[in-house]
Amino acid sequence: MTDSSADSPCRRALLIAAGLLGLSLAAARPAPAVADTVLITGANSGIGLEFAKEYAAKGWTVIATHRRSEPPRTLTELAARYANVRIERLDVTSVDEARALARKLEDVPIDVLIDNAGVYNDRSHCRADDEECPGDWSVESFGKLKYSLLDTIMAVNIKGPLIVAEAFYDNVKASREKKIIAISSSNGTLTGEKSPAQGAIFYRMSKAALNREMQIVAASTRRDGVTVVMLNPGPTLTEHQEYLRRYPEMLTTAFTVGHMIETIDRVTIRDTGRFLRYDGATEPW
Ligand SMILES: NC(=O)c1ccc[n+]([C@@H]2O[C@H](COP(=O)([O-])OP(=O)(O)OC[C@H]3O[C@@H](n4cnc5c(N)ncnc54)[C@H](OP(=O)(O)O)[C@@H]3O)[C@@H](O)[C@H]2O)c1
Repeated sequence: MTDSSADSPCRRALLIAAGLLGLSLAAARPAPAVADTVLITGANSGIGLEFAKEYAAKGWTVIATHRRSEPPRTLTELAARYANVRIERLDVTSVDEARALARKLEDVPIDVLIDNAGVYNDRSHCRADDEECPGDWSVESFGKLKYSLLDTIMAVNIKGPLIVAEAFYDNVKASREKKIIAISSSNGTLTGEKSPAQGAIFYRMSKAALNREMQIVAASTRRDGVTVVMLNPGPTLTEHQEYLRRYPEMLTTAFTVGHMIETIDRVTIRDTGRFLRYDGATEPW
């Protein structure tokens, strides 16, 4: 029997040691301050929902926002489980809605503001509650471009994070952590691919624009001690991407979000304006 066998004594000893190490590291990590609060956009599914679940389990106050007319079931279930989860409506493309919510949260410091809401393909033919509907990527290929989708992607992925960052800036400034996190993508890279493949024009250009705008927001907020970081979650298997399950490179939401939370914990004002992978490695622009 080799060491790689699942039940070898040597492997069991290693796993126990690793478990103990994990426990002792967790014990050494500073406990979050009582006041730690995170606001997440697009928190009802995928990566946003996993952020909401993990921060709730850590004991943070979670302001989980969604753009639906009724609170989505995923969030009402989470709020039923955790008293520290507060559900609020926020369509990130609406300046009025963002300002109205900011007024409602006037006295609430927001330690970590996560600009997560994003659109990557055409889900206009999907029912809102049909999480497994894959959406249509074909209308983002040159020769087949559907320009109404470009308008939506620009509004949600580029304008939305600016609207949200501006509207809640005073809340972030008033907090202890003072962090704005934009969920970006390696699809936004200009220099990181040797020969870019075709397709997904709208989505890829939107993330390039997001990175650039957040780099400038970072330069504008540094004087206030506010850290702005762009994170690439990596290929994450969400409800909407079940059709990608057969690809071994797909990572679970628990894995990528768990790492992103650790990276968010670690970043300081010295990192402001950086584009990082989920685990904190530098991403090429
Ligand atoms: N999954 C990946 O592999 C991957 C990789 C790199 C980057 N990302 C980025 O990660 C973020 C989350 O993606 P995901 O994969 O978790 O996607 P997802 O499951 O489709 O979640 C997107 C969220 O954004 C919300 N949203 C859409 N339009 C909105 C609007 N106008 N206002 C407020 N919320 C809105 C959606 O709400 P509805 O349910 O109401 O539509 C949903 O909650 C996105 O920024 C995405 O670009 C994902």
